[in-house]
Parts: sequence; structure tokens; C-alpha cells
Amino acid sequence: MKQIMPGLLSTAVLLALGASAQADDIELDPSTGLRMTVDWELVRNNCIACHSPKLITQQRGSKSHWLNVIRWMQAKQNLWQFDPDTEDRIISYLAENYPPQANRRRAAIAPDLMPPNPYAPPTHEAD
Ligand code: HEC
Repeated sequence: MKQIMPGLLSTAVLLALGASAQADDIELDPSTGLRMTVDWELVRNNCIACHSPKLITQQRGSKSHWLNVIRWMQAKQNLWQFDPDTEDRIISYLAENYPPQANRRRAAIAPDLMPPNPYAPPTHEAD
């Protein structure tokens, strides 16, 4: 049992990393899962003290979305203030690596596959 545990653990870690990998060649930091592009260390150093990095890596948004998240944490969650240059680099990293995605929700169900709408206005074709 003792001998197989490390094997199982590393398999689980590899699976977890694989699941969050994206379809490009950018390396993920093994301990946080952050995409290792310009300024990723800045995000690691400022953004994972209070919560799992997964809160970041599973989120998507534009620069203004990420800025709103930061302002909310500063107002409600004791996140510290950044100097403007640091804040800009953090937001650029986030918006470039975790940008908005159009297809995060399933497509709408085709109208002919929907049940009849009981609130639809009555049709008077027969009158
Ligand atoms: C001082 C503590 C602290 C730091 C540092 C911090 N956060 Fe947070 N953050 C929080 C708390 C608390 C929550 C709410 C967690 C929850 O809902 O479980 C949160 C939630 C989030 C969420 C989820 C928001 C949502 O949509 O629910 C994201 C994304 C996030 N943080 C990103 C970041 C980023 C990016 C940074 C670095 C700029 C950062 N956090 C640094 C405290 C912090």
C-alpha cells in the first residue's frame, strides 16, 4: 500500500493538471496551475494568499471584469491596494490568459424541441 500511494498521487496530480490545461503550448505552473506567461509571478505573489488559485484559473473576463473583481475584494475581502503599474500588469495578465469566452454556456434549445408554452397568447385562426 505504502509503495503505490505516491504513484496514485502523482497520477491524480497529472490528471488534475491535464484537465485544466488549455489547447496551446503554454506551460502551467505545477503548484498553482497559472499559465506561465509574462507577469504570472506577480499574480502568484498577490493573488493566492487567501484562496485557491482555481478561483482565478476557472474565471474568465475582460480587463474591466477583472478590475471589478479586484475592486470587490478590496472593498469586501481585505485585499490590499496595488500601485497603478502593478495593478495594470495584473489585470493585463488576467485578461490575456483568462479572457472572456463566448461559448461557456450551452446553446439555447431549438424552439421545436421545447414543450408547448402554456402562457403563449391564444391563436384565433379557427374563428
Ligand atoms: C486578502 C485576501 C485576498 C487576496 C489577496 C485575493 N483575494 Fe480573491 N477573493 C478573496 C475572497 C475572500 C473571495 C471570496 C471567496 C469565496 O467566495 O469563497 C475571493 C474571490 C475571488 C474570485 C471569485 C469571485 C467570484 O466571481 O465569485 C476571484 C476570481 C478572485 N478572488 C481573484 C483574485 C485575484 C485575481 C487576486 C489577485 C489580484 C485575488 N483574488 C487576491 C480574497 C482575496
